[in-house]
Amino acid sequence: MGYPVTAIYFSPTDTSRKGACAIAKALGGTYNELDLTCQGAKAQYGSSEAVVFGAPVYGGRLFKGFVERLAEVRGEKTPCIITVTYGNRDFDDALLELCDLVTAQGFIPVAAAALVGQHTYGSIQVGRPNKEDLDEDAAFAEKVAKKLKNGDYSTPSVPGNRPYKEGGNGGSFFPLTNDACIDCGRCVAECPMRAIGQDNRTIHTDRCIACFRCIRRCPVGAKHMDVPAYNEFAAMFTERLKAPRANAYFF
Ligand SMILES: Cc1cc2nc3c(=O)[nH]c(=O)nc-3n(C[C@H](O)[C@H](O)[C@H](O)COP(=O)(O)O)c2cc1C
Ligand code: SF4
Ligand code: SF4
Repeated sequence: MGYPVTAIYFSPTDTSRKGACAIAKALGGTYNELDLTCQGAKAQYGSSEAVVFGAPVYGGRLFKGFVERLAEVRGEKTPCIITVTYGNRDFDDALLELCDLVTAQGFIPVAAAALVGQHTYGSIQVGRPNKEDLDEDAAFAEKVAKKLKNGDYSTPSVPGNRPYKEGGNGGSFFPLTNDACIDCGRCVAECPMRAIGQDNRTIHTDRCIACFRCIRRCPVGAKHMDVPAYNEFAAMFTERLKAPRANAYFF
């Protein structure tokens, strides 16, 4: 494909970004990214372009804040690949929700994927998507590129139920800050919800979604969730979700 391909994603801990970008790059064409993790953006795509959407599953749904940011992104019969990334539990209705949403906004979903990524909490599928996952994503993209080349813009059947299950909210583990903090301000600047005060420590719990981006991005390991209530939950959850799930592709 010679036309522009844009990976559009919301991805606090980067797993959804990796899958969507791997697929977008393997489609061929001129590669672009639109990162909606920390802010929304108005964007419009035409019928001679392609888009790859990527977002995490939160409670079996798309995160509501991502849905709001996506409202500004429009297509005009623009072919797209939709992907959701989930932490090895289940993607429930999130992929169907994304399919419905982008269709209503002028895109044509020609393929879909439910990808496994390291869970935000505990130690579940650590390191995923790994090289094998990203190779699978690329092989999938090559098949979709052939489908598009053949002029086949059909939308595949995507698992999920309507009405969608309740979900799409953040969690309620609010990160703490230890004495290692060097006041670099990175967590404040990179919080998707602007939930950290200018003192680099105060968490506005009405805005925090417990995405753990601040914990993953802190350069000195000062942001943490090392408290008994979280540690007990994380250990139980890790044990419960230890059997690896496979990526699923639809086209
Ligand atoms: C609030 C919240 C809810 C989540 N709900 C689910 C879920 O329902 N099913 C699941 O398998 N993973 C769930 N996860 C895990 C994420 O979907 C998973 O870690 C994903 O890879 C994160 O994407 P990101 O790295 O792009 O931010 C949840 C994570 C958070 C923070
Ligand atoms: S403060 Fe909350 S919303 Fe902001 S990055 Fe940290 S966990 Fe995510
Ligand atoms: S990113 Fe870490 S070191 Fe930097 S201000 Fe935040 S908690 Fe402190």
